[in-house]
This record gives sequence, structure tokens and C-alpha cells, in this order.
Amino acid sequence: MRCRYFGLCGGCALQDIPYSEQVSLKKDLILKQAYKNRIELPEFCVEPSPREFFYRNKIEMTFSNSGQGKVNLGFHRRGRNREVIDIQECLLFSEDLPVLLERIRSFVGLKGLPAYDKYSHNGFWRYLLVRRNRNDEYLLSLITSSQFEPDTKGWVEILSDLDCVKSVYWVIYDGLGDAVGFEKVIHCAGERYLIEELAGIKFVVGLRGFFQVNPWGTERLYMWVKDYIKDNVQGKILDLYAGSGGIGLVLAKEGMSVLGIEMDDSAVAEAKQNVDLNGIKGYSMLKGNVRALLGKNPGWRGQFDCIIMDPPRSGMPPKVRYRVVKLNASHLVYISCNPVTFMSDLRDIVPSYEIIDFKAIDMFPHTPHVELVAFMRRR
Ligand SMILES: C[S@@+](CC[C@H](N)C(=O)[O-])C[C@H]1O[C@@H](n2cnc3c(N)ncnc32)[C@H](O)[C@@H]1O
Repeated sequence: MRCRYFGLCGGCALQDIPYSEQVSLKKDLILKQAYKNRIELPEFCVEPSPREFFYRNKIEMTFSNSGQGKVNLGFHRRGRNREVIDIQECLLFSEDLPVLLERIRSFVGLKGLPAYDKYSHNGFWRYLLVRRNRNDEYLLSLITSSQFEPDTKGWVEILSDLDCVKSVYWVIYDGLGDAVGFEKVIHCAGERYLIEELAGIKFVVGLRGFFQVNPWGTERLYMWVKDYIKDNVQGKILDLYAGSGGIGLVLAKEGMSVLGIEMDDSAVAEAKQNVDLNGIKGYSMLKGNVRALLGKNPGWRGQFDCIIMDPPRSGMPPKVRYRVVKLNASHLVYISCNPVTFMSDLRDIVPSYEIIDFKAIDMFPHTPHVELVAFMRRR
């Protein structure tokens, strides 16, 4: 155990378990879910994350009033959603975080304004969002209420001598929700986004779009999918829950024809930027809900040789599973970060598709999550 906040912070649940044991625990969890759902998996191992610490490319920290007129900035205390522990470092994010936090604290401290209180809906400072790429370049955004004027000039000034800070934002959010929201976005200085290069593709990493949190692990995952598809798939590919292009762009760069489906506006906009940035032909994206678009396009039956599915943790609704099987593609690739929904979704798919390969990678060391991918062929 290395983190001084372990046990207090709700972020890492497993850091007191040696890393190799965490990986075996994740294998047990996968096997248990497979057994429960009567899914037969080929032999597999859980590949450890290429980085055990400092692997995340995004963090969201919360401001809160400490009770002594001081503003805390950190993560929620384990099991106590009302309390935020003040943190100086995070071993999952980046070694540069303490330097960035020092600047942010001195800026916030000088203002003497209160943090936003999610129960009374009064106060100013709400969240800090930091994104980075593998070159350790940073995008920073403060998220505040509109109860006081944003000092964007002072915010830029306090960061101005840090060469690693490439992009600076201020977001105003008055919504009552307990997650970062984006009502008014002010681009204060620098680039509008960072660039991350993965599996031969340059990806835009903006304030809002979707990007997998562990780029080292994601690169492995994308290579697995690319290798399988290059060896097995000849025709068009449908990429459901496509994010900002992700794996679909890697395949299109190889000359394959890919249609992505994604409903988030920012992710769709970033996918378009990614296509232009890489001069990719053969990739197109439809904005919309997967379930609705599959329902509206019965003519897609037989049109795709492979369907990739990478849904959120909640998995795929029954209608989507049903409609995917109906499309009658020769191959399916199902990617998920949740063994529970992954295995229960597969129950509706395996009567029509045989799992011919299965892989897992630990994208989230020290947390209970694990990334899975099943490669399937029509029976
Ligand atoms: C796990 S991410 C997949 C990311 C992508 N495949 C990649 O490799 O980066 C899930 C994505 O599904 C999108 N999404 C969630 N529900 C959706 C739905 N019903 N229809 C379309 N997209 C959806 C989210 O906005 C998110 O970008």
C-alpha cells in the first residue's frame, strides 16, 4: 500500500492487495460471472495494466467547505458522500498533480470565496477537471456556480509559467446534479484540446468528449481488436457506442469501412475532428441512440461483416441484443468494463454466436473494475 489516503478516499478499494493478487481476483470475478450465466469461455488470463500507478488520463476533484472557513479540494470520503477529503496527490493520475494543485489552491485561497454546497445550493467552487496525455501535457478546467464573477485572467496568470499546461478552461454550472455539468464553457487560454497518439492514430482529448481512462491499456485493447478483425473480417464494420471514434478509427486507417454510432454530441464532434486530423477515409458516424437507430434501419441486416459493441457499464438493453443478433453479421466483438452485465448480455448472444477468443486486461489497477473483450463467430 503506497497511498497515504488509502482507506479514507473512496477512489481505490484494492490498493492494500499486492497487484498480482488483484489481477487474480479479477480473473476469479470474471469466472464467477461466466459460471453464473452458463457462459463457456476459452482459456484466458487477465493481462496486468502496462502501468500499475499513474495510469489515468482524467480526474475530477470536488471542492467543499471544510468547516473552518477553508476550502477542501479532493475526493469523497469512502462511504460518506457529504465529506470531501483534501488531497495533495493521487497515485492513479499523474506525478505532476501536486504542483498543479498547489497553484489551484493558492488561486482559490486568495479569493476567499466559499465552495458550493450541494445541499443548500449556495457557494462558488464546484469541481476541478484535469485531463492529460501521455506526454504529460494538461488541460485544466475550474467548474463554478454563477454566484460570483469568474476571474479568468487570474486563473490563466497563476498557471502561465507551467509549460505542461496546454489548455485552460472555466466552466459555469448551476445545475443541481452531483456530477460535472457544462452550462457555459469559457476557453481561457492555450489550445482547445490535447492530442493523444494511440495505435497510430492521433486523438483529440477535449474538455468533454469520451476517452478511455487508461491510454496504455487501451492501446493493448485496440491492437487485440485490430489483429482479430484483420485476420477474420472482410466486409463493413458497425461500431456501436463508438465514443470519439476510438477503435473504429484504428480500423478505418487500415483501409476498412466503418460506421460508428454514438449519441453524445461532444464525442461525435471529436470523432469528426479525429477523422480530419488523421486524414482518414472510410469512416463515418451517425449520431443517435443505438437502440433507436438499429430499430429504424432494418435494411442493415446482412450489410455488416462485423459488429463491435462497447456499451457503458450498464450493458446493452434487451432490444439492442436482439437487434444486433438479427443483423446477422459473421463476427461480433463485445468490449465491456463490467463482467456482470457483459456475461448476462452474452446469454442472449451465445445461442447464435460462438465465443472463439476471450481476453481481459486490467485497465483500472487498485479498483474492482476490469476490461473484457469477446470475439465471436456466427454459428
Ligand atoms: C465505453 S464508451 C465506448 C467508447 C469507444 N468505443 C472507445 O473505444 O473509445 C461508451 C460510449 O457509448 C455512448 N453511449 C451510451 N449509451 C448510448 C446509446 N444508447 N446510444 C449511443 N451511444 C451511447 C457513450 O456516450 C460513450 O461514448
